[in-house]
Amino acid sequence: MDKLVIEGGVRLKGTVDVSGAKNAALPIMAAALLTEERSVIENVPPLRDVLTMIRILRELGVRVEMDGDRVTIEPGRYQKDTAPYKLVSTMRASFCVLGPILAKLGHACVSLPGGCVIGPRPVDLHLKGLRGIGAEIKVDGGYVFAKAKQLRGGRVYLGGSFGSSVLATDNVMTAATLAHGTTTIENAACEPETVDLAHFLMKMGARIRGLGTPIVEIEGVKRLHGARHRVIPDRIEAGTYMAAAAVTGGTVTVNGARIEHIGAVVDKFRQAGISVTVTDGAVTVKGPSHLRPVDATTLPYPGFPTDMQAQIVAMMCVSNGISIVTEKIYPDRFMHISELTRMGAQITLEGPSAIVKGVKRLSGAPVMASDLRASAALVLAGLVAQGKTDVARIYHLDRGYERMEQKLTRLGARIWREKE
Ligand code: EPZ
Repeated sequence: MDKLVIEGGVRLKGTVDVSGAKNAALPIMAAALLTEERSVIENVPPLRDVLTMIRILRELGVRVEMDGDRVTIEPGRYQKDTAPYKLVSTMRASFCVLGPILAKLGHACVSLPGGCVIGPRPVDLHLKGLRGIGAEIKVDGGYVFAKAKQLRGGRVYLGGSFGSSVLATDNVMTAATLAHGTTTIENAACEPETVDLAHFLMKMGARIRGLGTPIVEIEGVKRLHGARHRVIPDRIEAGTYMAAAAVTGGTVTVNGARIEHIGAVVDKFRQAGISVTVTDGAVTVKGPSHLRPVDATTLPYPGFPTDMQAQIVAMMCVSNGISIVTEKIYPDRFMHISELTRMGAQITLEGPSAIVKGVKRLSGAPVMASDLRASAALVLAGLVAQGKTDVARIYHLDRGYERMEQKLTRLGARIWREKE
């Protein structure tokens, strides 16, 4: 396994390019299963999760080629309907093949994704939504068996105890494109990645209204055709590099960041005394000599994203005050706290809130990554800590960040990859 070694203390400077959004690319690749025709998806980041999705599509007998950041998917008359546990268990997003396979073949068998370190990852809203448009669903032996001779339009409410569900919205919206009649999804996810998926579906011939709002209407059509689509930039990757500039007191321009996708992050950063200026298609961040403490609460889009929670906690570890960061989407998503504490951070957990008391400086230490965004938080802490930090098990990081150590090195960071 690999680890990242970081020698902290460098103020980052320069420009970094944002890759395509993993959380848009994955459901879009799955949605290509709605037609036999070829689809070409561009700006797909070459990440572990993308390679896992490619393996799942190939397991279904679908032809998939990845050339650079372009993925070509040629489903043809694929017959296989099963996404196996060995693959789905390594990547929850695989579950979003359920809707398209069911809609195209009339039957699907997808392994339950299982939980992960950020908490239980239930799929009850996915199943409720698909049942709401006529699917017969059985769960047995860790697999979801779904079938429907013909999906029919319906009205489904997809809000759960933690608000809307991104992938449940994706699954139901995708399946509904081939349903007979119109489907209304209430409390749909408004995330830019879900909107990007809808744009791809509409290029395939789907009829969708209410994109980016909590009420989405899908008018079913008989068939869909292949399409070409360029995936939106990754707003969480953009936010992570903005955080790296801020926490090291550097000046970095993040190319390709779509400011309209990161409003809550920009607002919070400005509250912390970080200068954020927008030029055409880029965001320039200037970190202050000292970060002001801020309170943040994660909420569904357009609220502050849960996928930036670990990163802002890491930043607040060296602010000059006390911050309260409350996690409303995944209340257990605090695996980074214990590792940051090993670096000298002063954080106490009160239920779903992390109370972060800023310290003068963090000290480098060997730490362990646990999930994708927690790993990013540990790298941020290592960049500002005094001395050397080893971040172990960075395969977690490779799932969602393309060549992070290379991008950070180009910004002047002293960071390299080593075998553990
Ligand atoms: C997507 O996961 C993202 N993953 C996650 O990003 C992101 O954190 C999450 O949305 C929230 O924004 C992808 O898009 C591949 P949810 P998803 O369904 O769709 C509960 C990353 O770091 N829930 O929106 O699986 C759930 O437990 C990853 O890139 C139910 O109760 O998340 C959570 O508390 C991590 N029942 C809340 O809803 C369900 O059926 C939101 O989850 C589904 C979800």
